[in-house]
Amino acid sequence: MGNRLDGRVAIVTGGSGGIGAASARLFWEEGASVMLVDLKSAALDETANQISPIGERIAVFAADLVDESLAAEAVGETVDRFGKLDVLANVAAVRVYGPVTEATGESWDRIVGVNLRAVANCCKYAIPLMAAGGGGTIVNVSSSNANVGRAGMAQYDATKSALLALTRSMACDHAGERIRVNTVSPGPTLTPFHVRNRAAKTGESLAEAEAAMRAAGAPNTLLGRQAEPIEIAYAILFLAGPESSYVTGANFSIDGGLSGLRS
Ligand SMILES: NC(=O)c1ccc[n+]([C@@H]2O[C@H](COP(=O)([O-])OP(=O)(O)OC[C@H]3O[C@@H](n4cnc5c(N)ncnc54)[C@H](O)[C@@H]3O)[C@@H](O)[C@H]2O)c1
Repeated sequence: MGNRLDGRVAIVTGGSGGIGAASARLFWEEGASVMLVDLKSAALDETANQISPIGERIAVFAADLVDESLAAEAVGETVDRFGKLDVLANVAAVRVYGPVTEATGESWDRIVGVNLRAVANCCKYAIPLMAAGGGGTIVNVSSSNANVGRAGMAQYDATKSALLALTRSMACDHAGERIRVNTVSPGPTLTPFHVRNRAAKTGESLAEAEAAMRAAGAPNTLLGRQAEPIEIAYAILFLAGPESSYVTGANFSIDGGLSGLRS
């Protein structure tokens, strides 16, 4: 437990599992009051309860953030509950698999909706409140594949690349309001999403799927393994907190060397 976010108020989207839940826990341990926002209501309650069984400095809001009015409500509810807003971590995202020849209008709407518009929706309502409070920090979660090509995830990778541009431009627009905006780009990370995905495909139990994924590692990285969610959360904390006070418009790759050192 530290005090990097003592007295701060943070929203973490996608807060019901994986990197979002790990970030929310870390923010909370560092002294923040945390609003967890996600589509999944039951999982939100479970995560909040794991972080603070007595409900201290934690709240949840279930919403589809593609809906601008719900994103506005999530931000408003945070300020009603905790009095202000200092940090927004946009972690929520969806994945669509397959090449662009298989894309549909619906798949594009969904992935652009969640991975870009929902981020912009949250920022739209968070920024004026942060500005009114003297500033704040926004951390958007992109992907190492925003910069490195691969087969089978063209739509997802395109949205994550666009998120880097959105972040840089928001950093330009809002630096004068003392709002810093940065991205974290994780490499392969062993989150419940991937474990569930593998188990559904192979018929393995969740424990078996996780063990198999650990054994397989991540040969496309220099470190040869997937990240743990907490390893990504530490980078999000750094960009959300005071130690990154001279960082804005930047992208922090946390990818075991995947994007920078190997082709
Ligand atoms: N896990 C990885 O290997 C990896 C690698 C690179 C980047 N990322 C990024 O990290 C982030 C977290 O990924 P993860 O694997 O921890 O978990 P995840 O993909 O399961 O988490 C995403 C969360 O977003 C929520 N969500 C989806 N649509 C939403 C909507 N419309 N409104 C509100 N919430 C919504 C989901 O319910 C889910 O809890 C994502 O942005 C992902 O793209 C993950």
